Amino acid sequence: MKGNNTLLLHLFYTTLFLFLVVSSSSSTGNESNDDTNSKEVYIVYMGAADSTKASLKNEHAQILNSVLRRNENALVRNYKHGFSGFAARLSKEEANSIAQKPGVVSVFPDPILKLHTTRSWDFLKSQTRVNIDTKPNTLSGSSFSSSDVILGVLDTGIWPEAASFSDKGFGPVPSRWKGTCMTSKDFNSSCCNRKIIGARFYPNPEEKTARDFNGHGTHVSSTAVGVPVSGASFYGLAAGTARGGSPESRLAVYKVCGAFGSCPGSAILAGFDDAIHDGVDILSLSLGGFGGTKTDLTTDPIAIGAFHSVQRGILVVCAAGNDGEPFTVLNDAPWILTVAASTIDRDLQSDVVLGNNQVVKGRAINFSPLLNSPDYPMIYAESAARANISNITDARQCHPDSLDPKKVIGKIVVCDGKNDIYYSTDEKIVIVKALGGIGLVHITDQSGSVAFYYVDFPVTEVKSKHGDAILQYINSTSHPVGTILATVTIPDYKPAPRVGYFSSRGPSLITSNVLKPDIAAPGVNILAAWFGNDTSEVPKGRKPSLYRILSGTSMATPHVSGLACSVKRKNPTWSASAIKSAIMTSAIQNDNLKGPITTDSGLIATPYDYGAGAITTSEPLQPGLVYETNNVDYLNYLCYNGLNITMIKVISGTVPENFNCPKDSSSDLISSINYPSIAVNFTGKADAVVSRTVTNVDEEDETVYFPVVEAPSEVIVTLFPYNLEFTTSIKKQSYNITFRPKTSLKKDLFGSITWSNDKYMVRIPFVLTK
Ligand SMILES: *[C@@H]1O[C@H](CO)[C@@H](O)[C@H](O)[C@H]1NC(C)=O
Ligand SMILES: *[C@@H]1O[C@H](CO)[C@@H](O)[C@H](O)[C@H]1NC(C)=O
Ligand SMILES: *[C@@H]1O[C@H](CO)[C@@H](O)[C@H](O)[C@H]1NC(C)=O
Ligand SMILES: *[C@@H]1O[C@H](CO)[C@@H](O)[C@H](O)[C@H]1NC(C)=O
Ligand SMILES: *[C@@H]1O[C@H](CO)[C@@H](O)[C@H](O)[C@H]1NC(C)=O
Ligand SMILES: *[C@@H]1O[C@H](CO)[C@@H](O)[C@H](O)[C@H]1NC(C)=O
Ligand SMILES: *[C@@H]1O[C@H](CO)[C@@H](O)[C@H](O)[C@H]1NC(C)=O
Ligand SMILES: *[C@@H]1O[C@H](CO)[C@@H](O)[C@H](O)[C@H]1NC(C)=O
Ligand SMILES: *[C@@H]1O[C@H](CO)[C@@H](O)[C@H](O)[C@H]1NC(C)=O
Repeated sequence: MKGNNTLLLHLFYTTLFLFLVVSSSSSTGNESNDDTNSKEVYIVYMGAADSTKASLKNEHAQILNSVLRRNENALVRNYKHGFSGFAARLSKEEANSIAQKPGVVSVFPDPILKLHTTRSWDFLKSQTRVNIDTKPNTLSGSSFSSSDVILGVLDTGIWPEAASFSDKGFGPVPSRWKGTCMTSKDFNSSCCNRKIIGARFYPNPEEKTARDFNGHGTHVSSTAVGVPVSGASFYGLAAGTARGGSPESRLAVYKVCGAFGSCPGSAILAGFDDAIHDGVDILSLSLGGFGGTKTDLTTDPIAIGAFHSVQRGILVVCAAGNDGEPFTVLNDAPWILTVAASTIDRDLQSDVVLGNNQVVKGRAINFSPLLNSPDYPMIYAESAARANISNITDARQCHPDSLDPKKVIGKIVVCDGKNDIYYSTDEKIVIVKALGGIGLVHITDQSGSVAFYYVDFPVTEVKSKHGDAILQYINSTSHPVGTILATVTIPDYKPAPRVGYFSSRGPSLITSNVLKPDIAAPGVNILAAWFGNDTSEVPKGRKPSLYRILSGTSMATPHVSGLACSVKRKNPTWSASAIKSAIMTSAIQNDNLKGPITTDSGLIATPYDYGAGAITTSEPLQPGLVYETNNVDYLNYLCYNGLNITMIKVISGTVPENFNCPKDSSSDLISSINYPSIAVNFTGKADAVVSRTVTNVDEEDETVYFPVVEAPSEVIVTLFPYNLEFTTSIKKQSYNITFRPKTSLKKDLFGSITWSNDKYMVRIPFVLTK
């Protein structure tokens, strides 16, 4: 169990809480090995759906039949609304043969992707720029009327009975809605209402229902658009009113992942295809592939689906992933709004009280049955080592077969897991419990701000900086005693926000000329609705909870998609990229101690951690200026990434007249697509000029903006022109930014450009990569 395998084990447990697990066989759609010899599901992607073609279905059938020997029933599904293509069961040879056909962009094996509140929205309300808090906060207010903004969620389905999805007070379903409510034995037509206006599922063999037997889909949907429900908590923890960011919006459910959390690419593409057809406004995806691999824009199901959604004006919000390391950010195409996770000002503490009455801070979710007085014998694991142990570190860290049961029985065991990359807290619980220990204090820095579930067994995780106090106390007395307190909710926790340790970091592997992730939002210890009959994590003698506390960029994503719904409601005519820009340019970079936002480990966060910063909730409704990224920007981006015009025409369907890829398409040009952040790869460059265009979206036409540049001393940044003047006829203004490092870059540099008038501050970050 040593070596890399066990390191993975820890990550695996992390994954369990954050993304839920990718299951092995049954629900992966891999049931092809019975009849057909070595055929598997391939996706055939054929670019934009040409609405002038009579029947894409026939075209797909023709292609398929041209390679199949007999008239086999190989088709798995068709894509024909948002884009053209199909999924079919093919041999490798058949797949290769289809890839040669005209009009086919790519053919690839069906990939399996994985799933990557209450207080969070109140915290966000307080998270605002002090100097412009005069604007009305339209998110607050006790009464609301339903809006016609429709959020589509691609996830594990929905628990329609959750109180968060009540349609009380909702007006009729918007007449433009073309979706449907797919029914099944456990999901009848009354499971849809004026709140849940649509539900579709993409059957895998076991689960032909839109009902959520995982919980993830219900959790994220209620975080984004759940109506207020008072008295929500996880057995008293994180208690308060649970509500989504845009409670007045409608919800359309696309179940693309099974109960075990695996999400076939073929189902994800079907979800996109239908959502485009049905008429959603915003799409939310808390799922993705595996961090650390470069996204292939022609075979990544989310990149493909999102591209066609954005072409139809639908904003797509996706999780950045939970890999926590540089270069792991996922869902990093520029037409996606990529979300990192941050903490809120609430902590879940399970403290250790020592015999000398000292209280040491710990973090966990447990309902410890131990009494509050510190009378239970404690032992440092090192002192509980077996007599014949060869390596005392194993005992100190509570590794298997290292502890003497006689010394452990009836005691709280303190395991020193500092720098232990081999075994997780969960594994040590099993060991300590089996030897008769009555509790576990795990000294570890690996869980960051995340409170993990231990429920009935008294377990808490203590940071190493706090753990020394415990070790010193134990060392100071011959009969050390203590107790582990049941978890309590700590409000007004500072500092917050901080970037979650697990949140996937930039830069993007596609290009270091577009900054990713884009934004950070609450994704640590988030309480939201859960499916109804989950018997896991239930304290003894209690009923399953209808709420669950989860962490992950999965939880951060619906905070942003809910916010996007509110921006869309206020500004119904805005493009997807205008909404994205509004959310990004109004982000904050300071925490509730007024210092710079840090990472979980206390380092000052950079745009690679949180993109433009942490979201605010009222400023994006009225941003002043927006950076709109248009279709030509995206087509240019494809050119600059090496796709040729023939291919781009197939992918995009139509391109503007006279559009062509520049002869010298180079990835450097990517820096100048009109993105609401700036990234420049400085390898082999002395300076760089990039341009941006902003659009005035305020009611006031006549206004002048002036810039404030924040830049490290290593680089000279100049803007031209130096002010941006808008009038009734001039709505758009362009400007150029010149970056001139004084010497060649020794490290990556970060800064920002903020345009402001007397009313607004419109900020974008910049990143110069060495
Ligand atoms: C499908 O199952 C077969 C046999 O178990 C296995 O060899 C193959 O790798 C699987 N394919 C996928 C896509 O999981
Ligand atoms: C639909 O199912 C719910 C339970 O989920 C039940 O209460 C209701 O009576 C059913 N409605 C119809 C029309 O069958
Ligand atoms: C140490 O002793 C225990 C029992 O006393 C035995 O089970 C174990 O295998 C021994 N370990 C080593 C490394 O000798
Ligand atoms: C003792 O065990 C620890 C953790 O298992 C390991 O890192 C270390 O290398 C071991 N030391 C020796 C001398 O084997
Ligand atoms: C325990 O105390 C002894 C003597 O006072 C000291 O040498 C040792 O470093 C202490 N150990 C710990 C873990 O504090
Ligand atoms: C920056 O550009 C150089 C040269 O084009 C390339 O080799 C390098 O990988 C790029 N850096 C990053 C971080 O993408
Ligand atoms: C929940 O109930 C459904 C049927 O209503 C059942 O299929 C499922 O297995 C149950 N899940 C659990 C965890 O009990
Ligand atoms: C465009 O790219 C595709 C795929 O890389 C290639 O097959 C095709 O020959 C290229 N077309 C031209 C005109 O270069
Ligand atoms: C920005 O620079 C480009 C190329 O250097 C130039 O064509 C353009 O006119 C400049 N724009 C402004 C607003 O100065």
